[in-house]
Amino acid sequence: MSVKTIAVEALNEDQAAQELARLAAEIAAHNRHYHTDDAPVVTDAEYDALKKRNLAIEERFPDLKRDDSPTDRVGGAVLEKFEKVTHKVAMLSLDNAFSEEDVQDFTDRVRRFLKLTADAPLTFTAEPKIDGLSLALRYENGTLVTAATRGDGAVGENVTANAKTIRDIPHRLNGNVPEVIEVRGEVFLTKADFAELNRRQEAEGKQTYVNPRNTAAGSLRQLDTSITASRPLKFFAYAWGDTSGLPADTQLGVVECFGSWGFAVNPLMKRFETVAELIGHYRVIEAERAGLAYDIDGVVYKVDDLGLQARLGFVSRSPRWAIAHKFPAETATTILKDIEIQVGRTGALSPVARLEPVTVGGVMVSNATLHNEDYIAGIGSNGEPIREGRDLRIGDTVTIYRAGDVIPKVMDVDVSMRHADSVPFVFPETCPVCDSPATREVNEKTGRVDSVRRCAGGLICPAQAVEKLKHFVSRNAFDIDGFGDKQAEAFYHEGLVKNPAEIFTLQARDEASELQKLKSREGWGEQSADNLFKAIQARRDVDLHRFIFGLGIRHVGEGNAKILARVYHSARGFVDAMRSVSNEEGETWDDLVNIDGIGPTAAHALAEFFAEPHNAAIVEELLEYVHPKDAEQIATDTAFSGKTIVFTGSLERMSRDEAKAMAERLGAKTAGSVSKKTDLVVAGPGAGSKLRKAAELEIEVIDEDEWFTRIGE
Ligand code: IVH
Repeated sequence: MSVKTIAVEALNEDQAAQELARLAAEIAAHNRHYHTDDAPVVTDAEYDALKKRNLAIEERFPDLKRDDSPTDRVGGAVLEKFEKVTHKVAMLSLDNAFSEEDVQDFTDRVRRFLKLTADAPLTFTAEPKIDGLSLALRYENGTLVTAATRGDGAVGENVTANAKTIRDIPHRLNGNVPEVIEVRGEVFLTKADFAELNRRQEAEGKQTYVNPRNTAAGSLRQLDTSITASRPLKFFAYAWGDTSGLPADTQLGVVECFGSWGFAVNPLMKRFETVAELIGHYRVIEAERAGLAYDIDGVVYKVDDLGLQARLGFVSRSPRWAIAHKFPAETATTILKDIEIQVGRTGALSPVARLEPVTVGGVMVSNATLHNEDYIAGIGSNGEPIREGRDLRIGDTVTIYRAGDVIPKVMDVDVSMRHADSVPFVFPETCPVCDSPATREVNEKTGRVDSVRRCAGGLICPAQAVEKLKHFVSRNAFDIDGFGDKQAEAFYHEGLVKNPAEIFTLQARDEASELQKLKSREGWGEQSADNLFKAIQARRDVDLHRFIFGLGIRHVGEGNAKILARVYHSARGFVDAMRSVSNEEGETWDDLVNIDGIGPTAAHALAEFFAEPHNAAIVEELLEYVHPKDAEQIATDTAFSGKTIVFTGSLERMSRDEAKAMAERLGAKTAGSVSKKTDLVVAGPGAGSKLRKAAELEIEVIDEDEWFTRIGE
C-alpha cells in the first residue's frame, strides 16, 4: 500500500515524515501551477484536501513539521505587488470564428454595418494569432515610459522594468514617431527556448513548465526582474492603444511603421480582398504552423482601412472590425474515472468529469466539463442525439477536447472499450449539498424542459450561498484583494461571513469579538488581517456596474450590469426601480424591458430577484455599508446626452447598428420602442407603428439627413 493512501491516524512516524515531504513538494507544485503558470491542474477542493491532510499529519506529529511546511505559506500574494495601470484605451479581446461559414458571416456583418454591397471593394489583413500574452507599451516622445499587461482589459499590471529586459522591445524608437503612442503586441517564448528551459529545469531536478504561453506569462510577471531577464522572451507588435496621431491610415500601414521604428512584426501578415483569399492564407499558415518557431492558435483577420475600423467600433468586449479564426482544438483519449456534481451560484447542478490525467495540447488535464444531464445521456440542447446517442459512463474510455484557454470537454466515447458491467449514469434529483429537490424548469418560450437541473434550496443551500459570495468578491465585481475563493469558503463555513453585507461588518465584529480574532486564525496574521480590512474599506465606494454585477442575478452579466448602471445612474435609482418592477407590470417594468440590450429574460430575472424579500433585504443592508459611485454618461456635453432616441424605418446612409452606436457615443440611450421616455425618433422610409406612436405621444420625429445635420457630420 502506498503511503499516500494511508489514513492519518494509521501512519507511523517514518511514514508521516515521508508523507510530509511528498505533500510539501506536491502543494508547492500546485502553487506554482496556479500562481506562476496560471494553469491549475487540480480543483480547489483537491488542493484544499492536500493542505488539510498535511495539517492533520503536522498536528499528530508536531516535531515532524518541516521548515518549508505548506501550512505557513500564503499562496500567490506576489502578483498583488505590481502597481496597477489603468489603460487609457481598453485592451479588448477578439471574437472567434471556428469555420469558414463563421468567417463569411463576419465579413457579411462588416458589409451590412457599413452598408456596403457584396461586391464593393473591402480589404482585410490576415496574420497569425500568437499564443502568448498581450502587452501595452507606452512611448512618449519616442521613449518607453510604461509597459502594462492586459489584466482585466481595463486595469493591468505595471511590468515596465521587466519589459525593458526583452530584447525585441526598443527603449527608444527610431525615426519620426508620434508624441504619444501605445504600441501593443504579444509577448511569447519560442518553442525551442521553452524546451531548453525545461531541459535545464529537469537537469536541476526541478519541476518542468506546462507550455510556452503560461511560462511566458509567468516570466513577465516576476517581481524579481533578473528572473525575467534570464528568460528569452520575444515580442511581436500588432496593435495600438492611446496615441496622439497614427503614422498611416491602414492596419498594415501602421504595423509596417512599427517595423521601421524598431519592432519585430510578423512576416506572415498580408492583405486580401475576399473570404476565399483569407481562408487560403489561413490554410497556408495552418500548414506552416508546426514549423513556426512559436505557438499560434489561429489567424486574425482585420479590416485594413482605419476609417472603417472607427466606424465599425466595438460590441461589448471585442471590435466589430476583427475576428480570430481559430485552429481546431486538440484532443486526447483517457478514462472517465468518476462524475461529480457541483452546485453553482444559481443552483445549477454541473457534472464534472474526473479523468485519468492526460496531456491535451501540452497541458495536463484531470477534470473536464460534462455540461449537463442530457449531455451525459447523449442528448443535445434541442433534444437531438449527440455522439449518435452514445451516453457516457463511469469507467468509459473518452476523448477530451481542449481549445486554447477553454475548459476541457468530454467530447466522445469509445463504446468498443466499454466494460460489460458498466451502467448508465444516474443524475441526482436532489441537491448533493443541501438535499433540496433539484428540478428542470420548463422554458416558457420553447415549452421544452431546460437542460440544466437546479437546486431549489436557494439561500438555504450552502453551495449556492458560497458561490454567490465568491462571485460578489470576484475580480469583475467587488474585487476585494485578499478575499478570494478560498477565503469565501472558509469564512462562510466558519459562520464569519454568510452573505455579502456581512463582509462590511467583519472588521467591527472582529474588533468587538471576545472570541478568536482574524489575525490569530490559521493562515492569518496581523498584517494580512489588516490588509483585508483595508481592502474591504476601499470597496465601500465601488463602481455602480460592479455593484450590480456583484449581486449575482441570473442573466445579469457584466455587459447588462453596465447597461443598467448607465440607465439607472445611481444605486438608489436602480434598486428603487427594481423593487417596483417586481410585479412585472406598470411603467417601471415597461422602462426596463424597453432598455436596448436588456432582453425579457434578464428583465424577468431582475424582477424575480428583487421580489424575493430576503434578496431585497440584503441589498438594502448592503447599501447601508457601501455607496456605489453614480455611473457616468459616455458624453455629458452634447445635445444628445441623456436623451433617449429610437431609430426606425430603413436608414440609407448608415445601418441601424451604426446609428445606435453613434448615438451612444454622443451620450444618448437608444431604445427599441417608442414610449413616454423617448425624446427623439429618427425615422427612415417604411417606418410604421413607431411613427404613429411618436405622433400620438407628440415626440419629435426627424429624418436621417436631419440627424446628420444635427450631429454635425
Ligand atoms: S489584435 C482589439 N492581433 O489575442 C483586439 N491580437 O483574443 C486587438 N493576439 O488579447 C487584438 N495575436 O493578446 C491581435 N495578431 C494578433 C494577435 C492578437 C494574438 C491576442 C491578444 C488579444 C487576444 C484576443
